[in-house]
Amino acid sequence: MSKPLIFVETYGCQQNEADSEKILGTAISKGYEKAERKQDADLIIINTCAIREHAELRALSGAGQLKHLKQAKPSLLIGMCGCMVQQEHRMEDIKKRYPYVDFVFGTNKLSSFADILDEVKASEKRGFFVESYQENPGDICEGMPVCRSSSSKAYVSVMYGCNNFCSYCVVPYVRGRERSRKCADVINEVKTLTENGYREITLLGQNVNSYGKDTGEGVNFSELIRRLCALDGDFVLKFMTSHPKDASHELIDVIADNPKCAKQFHLPLQSGSNSILKAMNRKYTREKYLETVEYMRYRIPDIVLTSDIIVGFPGETDRDFEDTLDIMRTVGFDNVYSFIYSMRRGTPAAQMTNQISDEIKKERMSRLLELQCEISTQKNQALVGKVLKGVIEGESKSNPKKWSAHSTSGKLIHFDRPENPDEYLGKFADIRITEAKAIMLYGEIEKIYN
Ligand code: 5AD
Ligand code: SF4
Repeated sequence: MSKPLIFVETYGCQQNEADSEKILGTAISKGYEKAERKQDADLIIINTCAIREHAELRALSGAGQLKHLKQAKPSLLIGMCGCMVQQEHRMEDIKKRYPYVDFVFGTNKLSSFADILDEVKASEKRGFFVESYQENPGDICEGMPVCRSSSSKAYVSVMYGCNNFCSYCVVPYVRGRERSRKCADVINEVKTLTENGYREITLLGQNVNSYGKDTGEGVNFSELIRRLCALDGDFVLKFMTSHPKDASHELIDVIADNPKCAKQFHLPLQSGSNSILKAMNRKYTREKYLETVEYMRYRIPDIVLTSDIIVGFPGETDRDFEDTLDIMRTVGFDNVYSFIYSMRRGTPAAQMTNQISDEIKKERMSRLLELQCEISTQKNQALVGKVLKGVIEGESKSNPKKWSAHSTSGKLIHFDRPENPDEYLGKFADIRITEAKAIMLYGEIEKIYN
């Protein structure tokens, strides 16, 4: 008899992608096989995101589209999980408006997914396995089977949750307090990955700089990186996300001194205005941020810097917004992920009375995008003629005529499909850059590492 099929649809960040790999791995260990298309699946899990309203609406619309699949195949099991379902009002929505969703489990229940699946299959009733973080502080997922989507790049969660409570952000409420994995567990996972040929390891955490504060092992994030870099093998180590208030000189030194660390730093700025940073509860100033960038460039002159910026936070004046554009020009980020402020229920910023109109938010967003496009183009053009090392990914997602690689510093590069693809796939290569656009580089493979 053929095995039942599972399909996992993931919204949101890398943490969610990493969780989905565990959900998939667990289902496979319980006899499922991965479906290529959701139409074929016997079990569909929607892993949701809550960071902005748009992300929630996409996940809900994804759930909505499953109604007809359930009608066509009543035995289909549909589950939802992830950040969105940790919010009471969204749970009520799912209970009332999505009756064909059979079960829901929260972010603090991931490690129980195998038992939840058994229970759901044995029961005739819908199952809601959601508890707030007050009821269940959440555990650390150790030892779950993982079905990775790539055989050359891997995500490794090093910590879960966040203690920062930035005033706009829902994450601390839907992912709970910071919990770090034991150093030995992280090292063992990375060791196994590199022994199995993984070339790029990305350590994940909402605020990786806080790694180890709760383990009592005396290993902070910088020390964890030092120990990982001491492992054998040809691999590159990346991490995300850092908080500017604790992106320390020690961490920057570790990156500068270890050839295995990607010369790349994602450091979310959020705003260039000190009064907005204060209202956001970010606990640093623009001056402190600039000092950190200065030290990074001093230690690692060719570092690739990226950032997150929110436009239209409550109370943001024209002057505040100009401060953001000004710091963008001063720093010259390689890339910026920019977001229109989205009101999140239960966060302090949602109570602020000085909300900004959609019109102003959109206008500021388009000015910011225009400026960043100029800066990114300049940054990329400076790379023409240079050689970047990267992992070859295969056919490009955006242009099927080309192949793509991401450089170890995070730049997307397109190049012609090699004649003998199997000799290239998943390997490190040196690629000479021949042409540059704002978000894309073009190049030619110069050397392949075996
Ligand atoms: N509105 C808009 N953007 C947000 N982010 C987090 N919360 C919100 C919100 N309420 C952005 C921040 C963060 C990134 C992951 O998402 O820039 O760094
Ligand atoms: Fe959200 Fe701030 Fe925590 Fe990042 S550091 S997850 S923005 S609360």
